Amino acid sequence: MEKLEELKNDLKGLTTIDKLRFLANKFAGKIIFSTSFGWEDQAITHLIFSNNIPIKVFTLETGRLFPETYYVWNRTLEVYNKPIHAYYPKNELLQDMVNTKGPNSFYESVENRKECCYIRKIEPLKRALAGNEIWVTGIRADQSANREDMHDLEYDQGNNLIKFHPIFEWTLDDVKSYIKENNIVYNTLHDKGFPSIGCAPCTRAVQPGEDFRAGRWWWEDQSKKECGLHSTEAEGVKI
Ligand code: ADX
Ligand code: SF4
Repeated sequence: MEKLEELKNDLKGLTTIDKLRFLANKFAGKIIFSTSFGWEDQAITHLIFSNNIPIKVFTLETGRLFPETYYVWNRTLEVYNKPIHAYYPKNELLQDMVNTKGPNSFYESVENRKECCYIRKIEPLKRALAGNEIWVTGIRADQSANREDMHDLEYDQGNNLIKFHPIFEWTLDDVKSYIKENNIVYNTLHDKGFPSIGCAPCTRAVQPGEDFRAGRWWWEDQSKKECGLHSTEAEGVKI
């Protein structure tokens, strides 16, 4: 894709902040950052808010997040005094699913789990992304095997936009140091064995040495573990 190659060139040699600034300027009003309030996302939120970079920040409020996550969300609003836009599931869809299958249907089958992820995350994500050209995420290369094959800029065919992962090359230690040096509020579950934090009923702690995402949908087969949020990386061997 020509536009993608052009952008890769534009960003070459720039610092992370300048890359974000460049994109915010070039795609004014059409660039959006998704935060799940994990520490990767908190680092990016800090970069955006403390440098006044005009990028809209949003979160997918599934209704099933950890209490710790809501705490980080609220503290972040207090610290930066900038908006974080919440996208909720469609009331009717959620109500029908819960009334038909109960509140915890996701444990019963992969189909049910994907249905829940669709209603609580994917459909709201589509609404959040509509009209945007750049989607900023907190994905890092060393988070799992197939994320290493990705690039910090990539075309997302499903959503017809370009994804930018500003801290793609950072290691976990880089993230931790950045959080510490800048005194950034972070989710304390990270200190309790949770490298990746999603919905509470679908995330648990991992043992030392276990895969980054081993605690997500832990009852499912390795190959099925994706919610479709990042579908371009869902192709092939998936986390
Ligand atoms: S997921 O595909 O398993 O859900 P992961 O937890 O690895 O995603 O997070 C990768 C990136 O997806 C985050 O950095 C963030 O940009 C986005 N993301 C994940 N969950 C959410 C959420 N609930 N709301 C907004 N963005 C999210
Ligand atoms: Fe539903 Fe679990 Fe997916 Fe959250 S992670 S949307 S609770 S299935």
